[in-house]
Amino acid sequence: MSSSRPPSSIRREASSAAPERDLTKRQYLRFAFYRLDPLWRRLPAEEQISHKRELVETIMSFKRRMLLRPYSLMGTRADAELLLWQISESPTVFQELATAIARTSMGGYLQIAYSYFSQTKRSIYEIRRPLNGHQDQLIVEPTDAKYLFVYPFVKTRDWYQMSLPARQGMIDEHIEVGRRYPSVKLNTTYCFGLDDYEFIVAFETDEPSDFLDLVQDLRETEASRYTKQDTPLFTCLSMRLGEALDALGGAMAFEPVETVEHAISDAVTDVCSLDELPPGSTRVVYHEGRQVALFNVGGQLYAIENRCPHARGPLSEGSVSDSECTVVCPWHYAKFDLKSGRVVDGIASSGVERYAVSVVDGVIQISDAVPAMAGNGIKS
Ligand code: FES
Repeated sequence: MSSSRPPSSIRREASSAAPERDLTKRQYLRFAFYRLDPLWRRLPAEEQISHKRELVETIMSFKRRMLLRPYSLMGTRADAELLLWQISESPTVFQELATAIARTSMGGYLQIAYSYFSQTKRSIYEIRRPLNGHQDQLIVEPTDAKYLFVYPFVKTRDWYQMSLPARQGMIDEHIEVGRRYPSVKLNTTYCFGLDDYEFIVAFETDEPSDFLDLVQDLRETEASRYTKQDTPLFTCLSMRLGEALDALGGAMAFEPVETVEHAISDAVTDVCSLDELPPGSTRVVYHEGRQVALFNVGGQLYAIENRCPHARGPLSEGSVSDSECTVVCPWHYAKFDLKSGRVVDGIASSGVERYAVSVVDGVIQISDAVPAMAGNGIKS
């Protein structure tokens, strides 16, 4: 019987030549930079307040459908004032949010200054020793770092003409330089064919001077010769949405962030089932927008802030001592008491916040309801 199917040997060859597909979901990202029409600042104060509140309500209604981080560029750039960093598994929601913003009263005064659209992808290069803060490259998990540095990036075509081993060697050098700056976390995303560039890179840190030194050091690497474009570069300050809108000027519509950030919330978050955290294991969970490291030490559960106060090392990746009930930061080895959050050894000058943990019907819950203690790391 004749068949249009190729012989199996040919099919095997064809399939081995085809690029391997990664079936894990990739994320889409949008970096939308806005500039406010100065005419808006001449509106009556009541209108400004109602515009801001309407805009916050509109944007927050998308909270369940995407991860959204607001940043202010007031005082750092002349051509953009507000960034909405958006992450989702579908690009459709970006379009819906853009339309919803445009329909608000304040949206009539907001102009898009720059917009970048990208997607996550696993690197073709081997990262032999994971970088500090290295995460699954298909999932972007923003930290709560104070600063974000964003820029589009294009390599020269000569770069792509070199062999993969030659490029891998230069990437290795690049990565080694990055290791000198553990306080800087890199998020690389791809936009070949999706936007005008090849990559959009976003660096998170609490130390702008570390980022400056890192970029200067990278100029001396061999790979730098193959950079075609790495501007414009945006320095962005992380803020709550209301605070970022108040930073634009006009009448203040929201509480100052200090009072909001240090308020103890009575919210309780279901984070995972007890079965998912067996003794000896650790997980990163989220409570009220904060990253929390959850530990099961011999059947006792502890929850502390995930970021080390020294340079934001991920405490969830640290080594835990069951006998001492401590965790040692994987980056520079500061040691924290899991019961109190206090720093008990090492370079960190303060402790970390701790959270109350309870188990209800087999579900682990996190809340802020931990009594204040004297000493480091406890909210007051
Ligand atoms: S980041 Fe340096 S000790 Fe934790």
